[in-house]
Amino acid sequence: MTTDAEIRVLPDAPAASIAAADAVIAALKGAIVRHGRATIALSGGSTPRAMYAHFADASHASIEWDRIHLLWGDERCVPPGHPRSNFGMARDAFITSIPIPASNVHRMQGELPPERAAAEYREVLHALFGDGMPRIDVVHLGVGTDGHTASLFPFDPALDETDRTVCVTHQSETGEDRLTLTLPVINAAARVDFLALGAEKAGIVRTVLYGDRDPARVPAQGVAPTSGTVVWTLDAESAQQLRP
Ligand code: 6PG
Repeated sequence: MTTDAEIRVLPDAPAASIAAADAVIAALKGAIVRHGRATIALSGGSTPRAMYAHFADASHASIEWDRIHLLWGDERCVPPGHPRSNFGMARDAFITSIPIPASNVHRMQGELPPERAAAEYREVLHALFGDGMPRIDVVHLGVGTDGHTASLFPFDPALDETDRTVCVTHQSETGEDRLTLTLPVINAAARVDFLALGAEKAGIVRTVLYGDRDPARVPAQGVAPTSGTVVWTLDAESAQQLRP
């Protein structure tokens, strides 16, 4: 499989995190210029923490956070104060440091029963985007070494979802229930930003970008926006196995 994604390789993780933050902020500013507001679905895990911290940098002080809506691409089914909460990680990394109205922060309610939380988040998206498939301006994603992205895990039935925007999935490794945007929503995005850092991600990055296409086995390969762009921000370590 070849890729038509834009691939940016920075020397190291700190430089990649800054570059990724700058690119996301620029995309959000562009969306505000185009249609008066911007929406971003945030990823979780550990990789984006440093990038998120840069959202609060003085260099980005001009961004109009009151015109930006924060969504989540996925969430663990835990309360917001739980150490594994993706919302909690973002809150601590930057949300408490920026002037964003609480009404613009739309966390997935991981503390609720999973199916109820998924239904509730489908309503959040409907309230923000109206009928039809939401077109999120920026969907930020990471990738697991097993090829999962958001909380779409290999061979999960949610990978075949064509209508619902949010589903419950299950991560067998941790036994966790998860909430996740589905591929139709991700692929309706105007821009998808992947951030993958470190040597441990080198193999999966090569597989996703240049391996045989098998989205059931490698869910990140299912990310192919209909009319959006895909940008991969890597560091030298995660890019070390790339070949055209
Ligand atoms: C999550 C994420 C998930 C993450 C990958 C990579 O909830 O865990 O949304 O998709 O991006 O698992 O995680 P790391 O950044 O910790 O490697």
